[in-house]
Parts: sequence; C-alpha cells; structure tokens
Amino acid sequence: MENYCLSEPRYEAMNYRRCGRSGLLLSEISLGFWHNFGEAADPERCRAIVETAFDNGITYFDLANNYGPPAGSAEEMFGRIFDQSLRAHRDEIIVATKAGHDMWPGPYGEWSSRKSLVASLDQSLKRLRLDYVDIFYSHRPDPDTPLEETMQTLVDIVRSGKALYAGISKYPPEMASRAYAYLSDAHVPCLVYQGRYNMLDREPEAEILSQAAAKGVGFVAFSPLAQGLLTDRYLHGIPDDSRMRHSQFLRESDLTPELLARLRAWDEEARAEGLSLAQYALRWILRRPEVTSVIVGASSVAQLQDSLKALKR
Ligand SMILES: NC(=O)c1ccc[n+]([C@@H]2O[C@H](COP(=O)([O-])OP(=O)(O)OC[C@H]3O[C@@H](n4cnc5c(N)ncnc54)[C@H](OP(=O)(O)O)[C@@H]3O)[C@@H](O)[C@H]2O)c1
Repeated sequence: MENYCLSEPRYEAMNYRRCGRSGLLLSEISLGFWHNFGEAADPERCRAIVETAFDNGITYFDLANNYGPPAGSAEEMFGRIFDQSLRAHRDEIIVATKAGHDMWPGPYGEWSSRKSLVASLDQSLKRLRLDYVDIFYSHRPDPDTPLEETMQTLVDIVRSGKALYAGISKYPPEMASRAYAYLSDAHVPCLVYQGRYNMLDREPEAEILSQAAAKGVGFVAFSPLAQGLLTDRYLHGIPDDSRMRHSQFLRESDLTPELLARLRAWDEEARAEGLSLAQYALRWILRRPEVTSVIVGASSVAQLQDSLKALKR
C-alpha cells in the first residue's frame, strides 16, 4: 500500500476557531466516527474519507470507545488509517475519544467511575495506536458516580499525559457548571463541551452555549446534519444505503410528512443561496460565535466534499 502523501496547500482551505479561552484552535469542520467506520465498513473508503478530511484542513477527528459497530471497531479502523496515512502528521491532528456509554460487560464497562474511565482510555489508546489522545471526554452525565470522582479522574488523566485536554458531553447545565468549576479549581480547565445542535434541535441555545462561552469553554456541535435529515438524503424517499435503513438511531418513523415539508422548504432556501441543504445547515450552526466546530459524519468522500463547501472563504 502506498504511503500517504500530503497534498498542499491544505490549511488554506479551512478556517480555524479558538476553542474557548484555550490555546487550541480547531477546524470549523471536524470528522466524526460514530457511524460509517465500523467492522463492516470498506477500509479503503474509510481511508479515503480520512485523507480527504486531512487534505482539506480538517484537523479534529472525533471518536469514542463504543463507536462501531461493534464497539471499539471505529477506533481500530482509525488506528489502521493512522498508521497508514497520518502517523507522520501526529502533531498536526487532534484526536478525541470518550468513555461513559456501554462498552464492556460487568459493572465497570460503562458510566464514569475512576475504574471505568482509566481502563477505557487505556483500551482506546491501544486500538487507536496512540500514546496519548488530544481530548478525552466524559461522554455522558453519570447520575450515580459523584461528579467529583469523574472530574478528578479527568484531571489525573490529563496530568498523566494520556490526554492533553478534558471535555464533557451532554451534561445538563447544572452539572456542567459544577464540572467547569471543579476542573478550573484543579487547573485543568474544561476545554470543550460537546452537544447535539442543529436546525432541528436548538436546545443548547437555551443555556449551554452561553454558559460555555461565559466559562471560556468551547462548544462543538455533534449531529449537525441531524444524522442526514438536513441533507438531500431523504428529500425524495429513503435510499437503501442510508443510515435510516441501517441504524437503530434514525428511524423511518422520524420522517413524518410535516418534517419532510420543513426539510423541503429549507432545501429551497438553500438552493436560492446556491447551497446544498447540508451546506446551509452547517453554515446555520457556524454563524454562532460560541460554536468552535461542527463534527460531521460522512459515508462517502463526496458527502464530505459537499459539506466542506459550507465554509465561508
Ligand atoms: N457526544 C455524543 O454523544 C455524540 C453523539 C452523536 C454523535 N457524536 C459525534 O458527532 C459525529 C457526527 O454525528 P452524525 O454522524 O450524526 O453527524 P451528521 O453530520 O449529522 O450526519 C451524518 C450523516 O449524514 C449524511 N450526510 C453527511 N454529509 C452529507 C452530505 N453532504 N450530503 C448528503 N448526506 C450527508 C450521511 O448519512 P448516510 O450515512 O445515510 O449516507 C452521514 O452518515 C459523530 O461521528 C460523533 O463523532 C457525538
């Protein structure tokens, strides 16, 4: 297999935003590995998506222990691609992983005890073929583990050098506030909050966005295309190769006639501006100064290339 050869000038194609009050810049568009990188995925297609991302200035790759299916396989896929294409560029990329969702059997394979988080990150580093990740996230709030235990573990992980920064995902505002305070007191300030934000789900506008901004925490939006709803994917039926056909996370019953009518109206507005619906939806999120990056998914190079054209240059 040929060695990957970096195409220049790559960074000129991307905009970078500062993540909160940190020193870290993230690409406005990042690539997520929740779907499309599991065991059944075509390794060459996955590699082409990652190389296209990197060639277009995407520096942030977003993973989690449980991405696949099966859980762990997306990290393994990334690890292989990293060896083939990106190892020589380690200092040019940001790799994030997470722990907190269901991962392995027994009482330590999910949630956010010190035991679970430390073991999970060690497993992730092996699958990713990395010595450290750039960002380690607590993937979801844990109602039973004391927040102090989870946060102190993030602090210790950063101090150990296995992660450079800590982040949280999906925490409700009150818990996020306590998390920010704990991490800041421990001199490992929370780098970033990761939450769902798109034209169909505006919940972070109520509190999370302003709270993060006030605390100097960046915000990255996941599922910015509402898993593909905010694209041309479902405007004329449900394609056989779409997420709606294959994933339990997006159901055919979600696509009501009312929703379809809204999507078609947005598509018309997008076309009037010379944009695809995906580009329109990504620009809509990136208009907010509190947002550092949108993490897109892609099942093909063409989709990623389309989404990248959302960037204002
Ligand atoms: N922190 C958390 O709890 C959490 C939760 C969810 C996601 N995330 C992160 O966010 C990332 C993105 O989430 P997501 O995959 O739901 O993102 P998304 O960008 O909203 O949806 C991606 C899907 O949309 C379709 N698509 C993408 N670009 C397209 C384009 N230009 N034209 C037409 N269709 C297009 C593809 O669907 P098809 O596959 O049908 O082609 C693709 O798989 C994840 O990979 C993960 O890293 C984090």
